[in-house]
Amino acid sequence: MSSFSRRDFLRLSAYGFGAAVISTGLMGCNSDSNNIAVSFAHGVASGDPLADKVIIWTRITPRDADVERVTVHWEVSTDSDFADLIHQGSTTTSIDRDFTVKVDIQNLSPDTRYYYRFICNDKISPEGVMKTLPVGSIDRVKMAVFSCANYPAGFFHAYAEAASRKDIDVAVHLGDYLYEYPMGGYATEDAQAIGRALPDDNNTELFSLADYRKRYALYRTDSDLQKLHQSLPFIAVWDDHEIANDTWKNGAENHSETEGDFTERKLAALQAYFEWIPVRPASEDDEETIYRQFVFGDLVSLYMLDTRVIGRDEPLDYANYLDPITGAMNTAQFIADLSDPNRTLMGADQLLWLQQSMATSTARWDVLGQQVLIGRMNIPAALLSDFTRLEEVISIKIRMDASDPTVTDEEALLVTTIIPYNLDAWDGYAYERELVMQMVQALDKNLVVLSGDTHNAWASNLIDASGNAVGVEFATSSVSSPGLETYLGLEGADDATLKQVEQSFVTLINGLSYMNISQRGFMLVSFTQDEATCEWIVVDSVKSTTYTLDANSMTSLSVLPGPENRRLR
Ligand SMILES: [Fe+2]
Repeated sequence: MSSFSRRDFLRLSAYGFGAAVISTGLMGCNSDSNNIAVSFAHGVASGDPLADKVIIWTRITPRDADVERVTVHWEVSTDSDFADLIHQGSTTTSIDRDFTVKVDIQNLSPDTRYYYRFICNDKISPEGVMKTLPVGSIDRVKMAVFSCANYPAGFFHAYAEAASRKDIDVAVHLGDYLYEYPMGGYATEDAQAIGRALPDDNNTELFSLADYRKRYALYRTDSDLQKLHQSLPFIAVWDDHEIANDTWKNGAENHSETEGDFTERKLAALQAYFEWIPVRPASEDDEETIYRQFVFGDLVSLYMLDTRVIGRDEPLDYANYLDPITGAMNTAQFIADLSDPNRTLMGADQLLWLQQSMATSTARWDVLGQQVLIGRMNIPAALLSDFTRLEEVISIKIRMDASDPTVTDEEALLVTTIIPYNLDAWDGYAYERELVMQMVQALDKNLVVLSGDTHNAWASNLIDASGNAVGVEFATSSVSSPGLETYLGLEGADDATLKQVEQSFVTLINGLSYMNISQRGFMLVSFTQDEATCEWIVVDSVKSTTYTLDANSMTSLSVLPGPENRRLR
C-alpha cells in the first residue's frame, strides 16, 4: 500500500492540522458562544505570505458588551465558491485579544491564489484573497508600497487605487498605519468638514491598550483600507506613530514624563499592533521583534527592518549644539556624536541578522523595506534657520555648478556648508548607515531601499563614504498625511511654483534625483531579472470623497542590476 497520499494530506489539513493558531488562548468549542449575535465590522486581512504559509485575520464584533469569548470557524479554498476547501478549522477569540482572530495557514502551495473567510454563528465574513510567495525562477514581482495613512487628514484613495489593480502581488506597508494624535492635534483641522473626525470615545491622544485598539478599529472601518486588505496580503512594519511621534527605544518626542511610563505605553501599542495587523511574530508572545525576511524565488529578497523601536538610540537634536547666547553651532561636537560608533538605529542584533541573511541570499535584488530616508539629505545650513534664502542659495549653486568665476568665497561657503535636515532619519545615524553601505558594497548586492515616513516622494542614488555607487532609494509619499508643502507654506501653490521648489531640492541635494513635494499616493515597484522600476502613483486630492490620478505628475525611475549600473535612470 502506498504511503500517505497528497489527497490524504489535504483531507487531514482540511481538519485543521495544517494551521497554527497564534496565541489565541484556549482552543476548542465554546458552547456559550453559539447564540451570540456578532458582526464582521472590520473586514478580513491576510499577511506575511511565505511560499507555504499565510496569516489570515479578522475581528468579531459581538453585539452584547458582556460577551467574553467566541468560537470562530475559518475556511481556505482554491476557488471563490469555497467548493474545494484546502483547510478549515476553528479557533477561539476573546476580549483578551480584542476579539481579533489570527491564523497562520500552513502547508500551502507556492505562487498560488487562495480564498478565505470566517464563519461565526450565522454570520459569514467577507471573503479575502491571498497569494503565497513563488519559488524558483521568477519573471516579475510587483509591490504596492505605502506609508503614513492619517484618517482625519484625508481619504485613503491610495489604498482604493491599489485595491482596484489586478497585477500587484503584495502590499508593503512601511508604517504610520495610524496616528496617535487627538482631535485638535496634528493634521485634524479638516477632519470635521470631510466627515473623518475621531469618534468621541477615542478622540484623545492614545496611551492605553484600549486607546490603541479603538484607533485600529476606527481605521479598519475605512472601506478603502478594508478593500485593500481583502484583496492583497500585507507585509507590514511599524514606524513611530503606531506608538508616538519620533519614537526611539526608550522614549519619543511625543511622550513626556507626565504621560506615564513609556515602556508600558510602547508595549500596549505593540500589543494592539500585533492583534490588528496580520504580522507573524518572531516567536510566540514576542511583540517587540518585527524585522524579518521574505524571499520571492530567485528574484527578490525583501528585508523588513525596524529602524524605529528595537535598536534606535535617542535622535540628536540641533538645539543641543547651539550656543544659547551667540547661536553658534558646536560643529565639532555634532560631527563627533553623528559618527559615534555606539549610537545605533537598527542595533547590533538586527544588523548582524541583516548581514547574515544578505550574505546567504541568492536573489537578483536585495530590498530593504524600512521606515526612514537612507539617502543623504544634506542642505545648506543657512536654509535650516531661514528657508526664504532658498532662491539666493540656488542661484549660487547653479553658478557654482557652471564653474562661474564670479562666485565669491562667502557665496561658496553658503552653499557648501551643508547639514542633514532630518536627524530622525538615517542621516542622524551616519556611522551605522556607513556600515550598511559598506556591507552591501562588500557583498556586491543589487540594493533597492524602500522608505516611508516623510509624506513626500523621493528617489536617491546611494553612495558609500568612498563614493562607490551602492544602490538606489525609492521613497513613497503618504497615503493622506500632509507633506513638506504645509511646512513650506506651499499649500495651494500653482504647479509651476511647486515644480520649481522640487527642482531646487534636486539641485541642492547631492544624490537626490527626484521629489514630489505636495501630492499623496503610493509606489508601484516592479522587479524583473533585468530591471527594478518604481512608478509613483499620485492622486489629485485626499480631501474629497472621489479622486482622479494626476497622470501629469506621475514619474517612473529604474535601475539595472550589476555593479556598473547602480544609479537611477
Ligand atoms: Fe507619517
